[in-house]
Amino acid sequence: MAARALDEVEPGMAIGLGSGGAVDAVIDAMAGKWPDGPPVRAAVAAPRTEEAARAAGIELMALDGSFRLDVVLDGADEVGPELELVKGGGGALLREKLLVSACDRFVVVAEAEKRVARLGEKMRLPVEVVRFAWGDTQRRLQETLEESALREDEDGEPFATDEGHFLLDCVLPSSLELADLEERLKRTTGVVEHGLFLDSADVVVLGGTDGGVETLTP
Ligand code: A5P
Repeated sequence: MAARALDEVEPGMAIGLGSGGAVDAVIDAMAGKWPDGPPVRAAVAAPRTEEAARAAGIELMALDGSFRLDVVLDGADEVGPELELVKGGGGALLREKLLVSACDRFVVVAEAEKRVARLGEKMRLPVEVVRFAWGDTQRRLQETLEESALREDEDGEPFATDEGHFLLDCVLPSSLELADLEERLKRTTGVVEHGLFLDSADVVVLGGTDGGVETLTP
């Protein structure tokens, strides 16, 4: 599936790279295709991606507002029937959303098992909140998303995102209308961003365990 995703990348492009295993595989595929260094510049969403991109010889750049990205390649935690996504399993949803907001084309690369009949079926929805009074933000969120838990790291401490915020992993009830939920989350004081990516994927490349690849478009 990573090789198929590379069909979307052309020499000279400004690309965005999200985070996670699928992105690591895309970077590996790029290094295999262009051993002397992929002929693209990349903005990256996470330190782990930055390290992998550097090792592959990809030129890195800051997303400084002076240009748009031709394409963003990123994974997903859930892919719904309309190619709506839940992201943020790795905690990088805010920077990933910033990349997607700056791109002309968003290519999602994921294992076929990420496909679900409805978002929230297998994953909780990550909601990124500021640290200050996070418990009170959680209380206010409960009006919309009743059940949530503060994400913890392996030491049992609150997980801090790369931007220093906390994450509330929220149960996503099937009764909620997603566009309405998105609006409500954005209106909640203390919420920085959320892991819903609606109407944003231009293509989803799904890889099966048998090596088969399926390409979905909206
Ligand atoms: C990171 O916060 C997520 O949005 C990732 O894109 C997601 O977790 C996919 O990761 P894998 O490619 O490792 O499944």
